[in-house]
Amino acid sequence: QKLKETYRPQFHFSPEEKWLNDPNGMVYFNGEYHLFYQCHPFDTIWGPMHWGHAVSKDLIYWEHLPIALHPDENGTIFSGSAVVDWHNTSGFFDDQPGLVAIYTSNDTYPDSDRPRQRQSLAYSHDNGRTWEKYEGNPVLSDTTITDYRDPKVFWHNHTNKWIMILATGQSVTIYTSPNLKEWEFASEFGSKAGSHDGFWECPDLFQLPVDHDENNQRWVMVVSIGDTGEFIEGSRTQYFIGDFDGTTFVNHHDDETILWLDYGRDNYAGVSWSDIPDGDGRRIYIGWMSNWRYANQVPSKEWRGAMTLPRELSLSSSKNGIRIIQKPVSEISRLRKNSRFQHNITIEDSNPVCLALNNQLMEINIEIEKIDASKFDMILQNSKAEKTTISFDVEKETLVVDRTKAGEHSFSTSFPIIQEAPLKLKGNQIKIQMFIDASSIEVFANDGEIAITSLLFPSEELKELLLFSQDGRMKVTYLELTEISSIWE
Ligand code: FRU
Repeated sequence: QKLKETYRPQFHFSPEEKWLNDPNGMVYFNGEYHLFYQCHPFDTIWGPMHWGHAVSKDLIYWEHLPIALHPDENGTIFSGSAVVDWHNTSGFFDDQPGLVAIYTSNDTYPDSDRPRQRQSLAYSHDNGRTWEKYEGNPVLSDTTITDYRDPKVFWHNHTNKWIMILATGQSVTIYTSPNLKEWEFASEFGSKAGSHDGFWECPDLFQLPVDHDENNQRWVMVVSIGDTGEFIEGSRTQYFIGDFDGTTFVNHHDDETILWLDYGRDNYAGVSWSDIPDGDGRRIYIGWMSNWRYANQVPSKEWRGAMTLPRELSLSSSKNGIRIIQKPVSEISRLRKNSRFQHNITIEDSNPVCLALNNQLMEINIEIEKIDASKFDMILQNSKAEKTTISFDVEKETLVVDRTKAGEHSFSTSFPIIQEAPLKLKGNQIKIQMFIDASSIEVFANDGEIAITSLLFPSEELKELLLFSQDGRMKVTYLELTEISSIWE
């Protein structure tokens, strides 16, 4: 049945029914990747938040489980994280380690409408199947700050402490704790750094090697910025690169530098998995594939909201400095079937090459070499002439995903837009990987240097790929069209 629902993602995580927003509490434990998420179990619009729950052995196929955390006397359950308490620092576990969730309890101050956000704990002895709320909740509050939410917690080896990074209005605040129950202020970061186009939400902080060199590590802070209604982009995600000593984050860029994690409109509130085993060592990220600007209006019926593909994050040095590289996790290849290949096709000016697709669920890999064209377009379209255009502009050095004519968009004037990212030729070439699901496209360029994540609502399957070159010729040196299986089969 999920194979038939209009716009139902076929290989991205979406809830079986009703509303979903942020991914929460991602943690790997006893052979399972846990994914919790902000959910409203009774409606397809945002409302009183619960934590929905799913588990996976491979980040691809998900088992949907009952709601993990329900609202309680401290309020509804906003975003947060989960960790394995390996050494029972919390005292919640006697014989075996278990999971602790650290989340925001959201309610209002007694006798007023002012929102109150405080941090709470829940713990599980049975691999996240059932949860006990800690009787000492909330464990962290501050009456002076209204927006005080989305705790991301991790164990810091050097200082032997838990670290919490919390969104606190237009900055993040870092706290430390020996036991997850008592938290001490450590530092505040960011009130002048990066983008302040919206309030800060859903921060994350983790360490990664640069160019896979274990002796050269940096700390990465990811911060989502909310939609104030003022900027056409709506909600989006930025990051910082620097150092962290267990107390203070030092930004290696000047305050004015803004680094975007994604140049599309639909990757928000993403954070990374906790407790990935040392032998694996990946930093795996997932985001909510929507935008607060229109999240409540997108035209799906039985459910509303989906996640991005899980992505592996790494750091790579470039001319401009160190940047995040993101690639869909390699497990995605399990869904690949029926590839077709083409090599060395020269696309002449105004003589497009048209390829039929068997299926809209596709991974497309393409490498193009500049000859003398000024622009190269890849157009995905259906028989209703609804089309999404992915273009590389040689002069401007930009990659664009144009969804102005991609299908249904009457639900929001902010939806039919052009998404643009800077992209330089490498030698004379660019390399693009795209994943097209029933209502989304994710475009990765030059091996994950940039990402453009975008929802689309074509009213009929996209069944044609047109390759088009403007003012000259372009050479497609490599083209691979691979069908992707549904995870609901
Ligand atoms: C981000 C966010 C979080 C909050 C949650 C509420 O999308 O606004 O800051 O915890 O969603 O659902």
